[in-house]
Amino acid sequence: MKILITGAAGFIASHVADAFIKAGHEVVIVDNFRTGYPHNLNPQAKFYELDICDPRLEDVFAIEQPDIVDHHAAQISVPLSVEDPLTDAEINVKGLINILQCCVQHKVKKVIYISSGGAMYGEATEYPTSETYSPKPLSVYAINKMVGEDYLYFYHHTYGLDYTVLRYANVYGPRQVSHGEAGVVSIFVEKLLAGETPTLNAYPDEPDGMIRDYVFVKDVVSANLLALQKGSTEAFNIGTCIETSTRTLYLEICKQLHLQIEPKHADARKGDLHRSLLRIDKARGILGWKPQYSLSEGISEVIEYFKHRS
Ligand SMILES: NC(=O)c1ccc[n+]([C@@H]2O[C@H](COP(=O)([O-])OP(=O)(O)OC[C@H]3O[C@@H](n4cnc5c(N)ncnc54)[C@H](O)[C@@H]3O)[C@@H](O)[C@H]2O)c1
Repeated sequence: MKILITGAAGFIASHVADAFIKAGHEVVIVDNFRTGYPHNLNPQAKFYELDICDPRLEDVFAIEQPDIVDHHAAQISVPLSVEDPLTDAEINVKGLINILQCCVQHKVKKVIYISSGGAMYGEATEYPTSETYSPKPLSVYAINKMVGEDYLYFYHHTYGLDYTVLRYANVYGPRQVSHGEAGVVSIFVEKLLAGETPTLNAYPDEPDGMIRDYVFVKDVVSANLLALQKGSTEAFNIGTCIETSTRTLYLEICKQLHLQIEPKHADARKGDLHRSLLRIDKARGILGWKPQYSLSEGISEVIEYFKHRS
């Protein structure tokens, strides 16, 4: 199959592009290097340096005629989405609409849309949170991811465009930069390897930090591979359903690096959710997906990556 993947100069989609190519698919990448890097691009992919909001995206579809679109490109910073909501909407809503228009015009068979289970549900009252929970987004980023899902539903209903939504938990792994949505693993590893003392952000009443569902990037990749064939018109949480506090995460990294350093402490950042944990039975049942990597296995790969990078 020919797959057009957006955002594959970035962290997650670069791994997805590598896996699609390894599985024998033809891959076309669209990215404008807003937060991605040329060194993440798979050399076997055809690359277009282009903004997803650019009307010339249509030319790419006309030339390439992709069967599938896997849409990862996005404005990913939650704080930035609050400071500059128009930019978030420009990329995460208008960019998506531009892509969907091209999909309809060029008869794309399916769109895999990347949403955020880690942000969209807000401070949920149901833990672990399932896909049926009514989202209460607490950031512009989360609102626009939710709106994106509504657009997918509309394009399916109106034009018959097939889709699958993957709602990622907090993804971590090699190539993640330290300012991402869930960059805390990279931040801790980078700082500790550099001999610096990391800062643990926490709410005063929860000194061990926030609760998160950390999913390793290679598990996220396998969900994308399965979504090529399965999960038509459905949304799936892609997490581990295991809760980890920031302190537990920090201590695991320290253990693997044979370090005993007490972190500095600072207040939680504005907009940080207290707790996020995803129920994953639906992906298990319909996609046949389950996470394969434990937190300690994933962290060990991140440490190896940063050791060899520096
Ligand atoms: N990292 C996480 O924990 C997490 C969690 C939930 C959802 N997601 C979603 O996964 C996707 C990938 O995130 P990531 O962590 O790999 O981020 P990333 O910043 O590493 O990747 C995003 C890529 O999109 C590109 N991009 C941004 N705006 C663009 C535009 N206007 N035109 C073309 N390309 C553009 C960037 O250059 C970058 O290469 C995003 O949709 C994000 O919202 C990530």
